[in-house]
Amino acid sequence: MHDQAEALRHLVHSRELGGARSTRIVTVTSGKGGVGKSNFSLNFALALQNRGYRVLLFDADIGMANIDVLLGTPAKYNLFHLLKREKSIWEIIQSGPGGLQFIAGGSGFRDLIRLSEAELDYFTGEIAKLHGHVDFLLFDTGAGLSKETLRFIGAADETIVVTTPEPTSITDAYALMKMVRQMGQDAAFRLVVNRVEGEREGRQTADNIRQVAQTYLQLELPLLGFVPDDGHVSRAVKRQTALSIAYPDCPAARGIDGIAAAYVRAEPRAPERNLKGFLQRMRKLWS
Ligand SMILES: Nc1ncnc2c1ncn2[C@@H]1O[C@H](COP(=O)(O)OP(=O)(O)O)[C@@H](O)[C@H]1O
Ligand SMILES: [Mg+2]
Repeated sequence: MHDQAEALRHLVHSRELGGARSTRIVTVTSGKGGVGKSNFSLNFALALQNRGYRVLLFDADIGMANIDVLLGTPAKYNLFHLLKREKSIWEIIQSGPGGLQFIAGGSGFRDLIRLSEAELDYFTGEIAKLHGHVDFLLFDTGAGLSKETLRFIGAADETIVVTTPEPTSITDAYALMKMVRQMGQDAAFRLVVNRVEGEREGRQTADNIRQVAQTYLQLELPLLGFVPDDGHVSRAVKRQTALSIAYPDCPAARGIDGIAAAYVRAEPRAPERNLKGFLQRMRKLWS
């Protein structure tokens, strides 16, 4: 049903954007759950792919993995099979609608917590094979305050923090950034405000959180953009179809597409630390 060989071919042969490129590692996270990370990650990945970038979406939400559910593509293999050394990295890459390459979380990430040295070696070794095959490795993480998510953030090149205009979501996003700071990580954050009722609400939310981050954490938090509150998101979820495929012209899909456009235009927030560096930092944070 899901042709793994095809997934691999797609990765290897997908459009080159000129020269050897390194892999940019981006985590998408939030303080509070249910703010729209997975929907954002999925449609952001598709929007980057539409622009010719090779993207691999990695579902890294511990215990709440659901990218395959959002896509209506039940995953034959997932992270669990990799951690158990039953499958290689290439075998667990699934090919979703629109040709999107993704790795389903399954229950795998629960086991990450208890990985032995040898298992962690295998895991990082397999991830390292992705080098040069993808332009963006996008991790959809769980809501922030777990150790595993904090490790991903600490190791990634950039972290997109998703919040909604609700005060609870904003304060939790702030708490997340504060924790990352306290871990001594120099994470490069960017902000997405999801479910805004209008430009004005989005702007106010962004100003608010950026100012607090600046004042109390001395943290720059560049705004990537807003995504409107839009009933199409829930409808797409119920149809188990990516929003940008089901309703490409709806306000939320257009919002995310605009964010992807801005994102690839913007200067990287941090120098690319490459996949090898990511894995080294993961290992360090794990020990
Ligand atoms: N822009 C939006 N407009 C309206 N509803 C949204 C939007 N983004 C997310 N939602 C709603 O929030 C729910 C949770 O989104 P999800 O991406 O699964 O959140 P998370 O991954 O942060 O837990 C979605 O199923 C949808 O109903
Ligand atoms: Mg999610």
